[in-house]
Amino acid sequence: MIYSRIAGTGSYLPEKFLTNVDLESMVETSDEWITDRTGIKKRHIVASDETTTDLAYYAAKNAISAAELKPRDIDMIIVATTTPTRIFPSTAALVQEKLGIHGCPAFDIQAVCTGFVYALTVADKFIKSGSAKNVLVIGAETLSRIVDWTDRNTCVLFGDGAGAVVLQASAEPGILSTHIHCDGSFNNLLHVPTGPGSAITEDPAYIEMQGNDVFKVAVKTLSKIVDETLEANQLDKHDIDWLIPHQANIRIIAATAKKLSMSMDSVVVTVQDHGNTSAASIPLALDVAVRDGRIKRGETLLLEAFGGGFTWGSALIKF
Ligand code: ACO
Repeated sequence: MIYSRIAGTGSYLPEKFLTNVDLESMVETSDEWITDRTGIKKRHIVASDETTTDLAYYAAKNAISAAELKPRDIDMIIVATTTPTRIFPSTAALVQEKLGIHGCPAFDIQAVCTGFVYALTVADKFIKSGSAKNVLVIGAETLSRIVDWTDRNTCVLFGDGAGAVVLQASAEPGILSTHIHCDGSFNNLLHVPTGPGSAITEDPAYIEMQGNDVFKVAVKTLSKIVDETLEANQLDKHDIDWLIPHQANIRIIAATAKKLSMSMDSVVVTVQDHGNTSAASIPLALDVAVRDGRIKRGETLLLEAFGGGFTWGSALIKF
């Protein structure tokens, strides 16, 4: 039996960031409102010449060296992103070129904030079927480019960044199970209303969200995915060492922790420093907690996410 395990993690954040106080001079908002409603204090923003590919590449390099591998050892690249550098080729193809390795399959996955969980799921299947040995799985976003900086409902929420893991074939179990879902009937509650294949020609295209409706569905759906994951593995909630949630809102994160009867000390929270970085948020949070020594080998991790689509998903991992 072939299993897959996380051999190394990496992340990258642009240098520039905006604090809540910076935003107070851009839209009618306050540090107090943003902190109380979301938990966010600052978010990193790309420089004008930085691309999603750049962020993904730096995160990937960090993950490859943490796995004690060389770029040539990578035999598949999957990038989860909603903000690809170009319409085509894929950001994964551009990362492959920057890494100087050619020939291995490379493709993007679009599942918005659940993108990393989707990408991890695909990578796990390729490894378990014996088709790949070292898959680079990246979540990378430059959401600041699709945010309307005059809309206080959305511009305070999002940030840029990238996180990555190397998923490796192993004789020991690592990824214990993954669970992914989508319900397209909610597509209008959280979306960018146009795209290159759309009949609507609205330009420029920005994120639009019915925040309060999204919030309610997110809390309910994440509760269900926790049950589904525990049941599939015949685990009790007390068996989880770390919750690594998608970082959209501290109140959504706290609701999932409560459902698991987990203290917030066992939840990796980065939303205060990163904002919502969509597909990048889980691998960024994972890397932060691995590098600061909180997450240790052998511990059981629950990753969960919810986002546009709606999409949602989880991964249970023996680290
Ligand atoms: N500053 C001050 N006031 C604001 C701001 C702001 N930045 N934004 C909104 N408000 C106002 C609203 O206009 C509204 O005012 P009104 O009552 O006079 O109309 C009031 O605050 C309350 O607005 P709500 O939207 O009801 O506030 P809520 O408590 O729901 O918080 C938030 C909004 C933070 C967006 C929350 O709903 C949320 O986090 N939703 C879920 C987001 C999410 O998880 N998205 C999924 C992932 S993202 C992805 O997939 C790309």
